[in-house]
Amino acid sequence: MIEELTDELRKVNEEAQRLIAAAKSVDELRVAESRLTGKQGSLGKLLGSIGKFPPEQRGAVGKEINQAKAAIVEQFAAARARLEQTADKAAATAAQTYDPTLPGPVVPRGSVHPVTAVQWEVEDILSRLGFVVVGGPEMETEYYNFEALNIPAMHPARDMQDTFWLDNGRLLRTHTSPCQVRAMERLSAPLRIISPGRCFRYETEDASHANTFFQLEGLMIDRNISIANLIAVMKLVLEQVFHRDVKVRLRPGFFPFVEPGFELDMSCAICGGSGCPTCKRSGWVEILPCGMVHPNVLRFGGIDSREYTGFAFGLGLTRLAMMKYGVRDIRALNAGDLRAIIRPERRNGRAIIAKD
Ligand code: DAH
Repeated sequence: MIEELTDELRKVNEEAQRLIAAAKSVDELRVAESRLTGKQGSLGKLLGSIGKFPPEQRGAVGKEINQAKAAIVEQFAAARARLEQTADKAAATAAQTYDPTLPGPVVPRGSVHPVTAVQWEVEDILSRLGFVVVGGPEMETEYYNFEALNIPAMHPARDMQDTFWLDNGRLLRTHTSPCQVRAMERLSAPLRIISPGRCFRYETEDASHANTFFQLEGLMIDRNISIANLIAVMKLVLEQVFHRDVKVRLRPGFFPFVEPGFELDMSCAICGGSGCPTCKRSGWVEILPCGMVHPNVLRFGGIDSREYTGFAFGLGLTRLAMMKYGVRDIRALNAGDLRAIIRPERRNGRAIIAKD
């Protein structure tokens, strides 16, 4: 019986060694120790078995087991002390290697959206010519979006712009042109304003149409403003945006708020004019509808059309960004997974991507 006990105690001791060697932290050590000495553990079971020995042997057996237990507890305590010391050392070294003077980790800052980049650029160019930036609401009234622009209620021109009508009787502006009459009312003549912003159309989306896009409206009103002024300003803007001579052509275009009205096309910057899906294989892209402000619109804005004339244009900022940065599909610009990177400091530079 006693020999068997000695054998058992040796095994328990070996198990303790194994557990101590495997423990990597003070916590693991604590768990291992309580498992071994707990009622269900090998040592606990031995202690519980004292009653099975004949009464005259119980004293000796108990003593032996308790001695073994004390030795094991001691070994665990020593192991704990060792582990604590190593942990302290590691913490001390970590504290020493921390250098508060080093710069922190670099957090990627993102970049400016291509549409924002061209918007800023056009704003820069035109403000050098004396244009000021004014805003207008995205939720617009029917009056400013249509009526004051010489598009009365039953006029077929309303069909040119599929509109999101709202329950409150207003609409999501279909263009930035409503800013024209708002600006005339506020600033009167003479004036030079630009108004960039988001516009909405009830459109089926494809590579060149989106239900949400950006335009930049321009308006110049003064004495003796002519089509020559209009063409000069338009050409200057496009050449500065593209950093090169730009081929443009003027076609007659119908917009109720200008007379005469034009479509100003530029040679497609994506294919260089040879024809691609973006320019519908024509080599030209409609980029700048414009014209001489209709006298009715001047009247709506409270400006005397006998004294003043003016030109207006509605630059498609989204399309301009696509041309400038070689983005073939308008949906890429709204998708939020742009691979394009334009850093603010490079916003006047040539940049980026071709996203297919
Ligand atoms: N607002 C027009 C549109 O979105 C574009 C436009 C045409 C604006 C001629 C103008 C203009 O200022 O003169 O279709």
